Amino acid sequence: MRSLLLAFLAVGSTTVTLNAAAGNLARGQEIATQVCAACHGVDGNLVLAPDYPKLGGQHADYLEFALRAYRSGDRDNAIMAPFARDLSDQDIRDVAAWYARQESRLIDMPRRSRRR
Ligand code: HEC
Repeated sequence: MRSLLLAFLAVGSTTVTLNAAAGNLARGQEIATQVCAACHGVDGNLVLAPDYPKLGGQHADYLEFALRAYRSGDRDNAIMAPFARDLSDQDIRDVAAWYARQESRLIDMPRRSRRR
């Protein structure tokens, strides 16, 4: 009986770990709606101004990387810093998972209009 219980506990905690690694979509949607939507949209495809990037369909690991960089100051941006600073590691995983799941409207720029 005891080993059966331990087996259940082991399976249970594995599931929790996997979910955490992938990010919690419901929580991610909540953060996106409450904190990020005004500038990026709930689906990450609102472009308020040309220097406001699209997030919808972007790779989750890239979004996490960018958010950590704003939080630490490696990416020095006065607009994003205060929002990133309030996010925990888990918040970052959750909101990145949410935006990664949205439709992508990212486009490749034609070569001649690329800067540098
Ligand atoms: C007040 C407007 C505003 C809010 C609110 C905001 N952002 Fe941003 N975000 C920006 C701007 C402007 C940039 C571009 C900054 C730069 O040039 O580095 C940006 C950049 C980003 C990037 C980098 C994208 C890339 O392609 O490199 C990510 C990721 C991001 N925001 C996620 C979020 C998340 C998640 C939230 C909510 C927790 C959020 N932002 C809230 C304005 C905002």
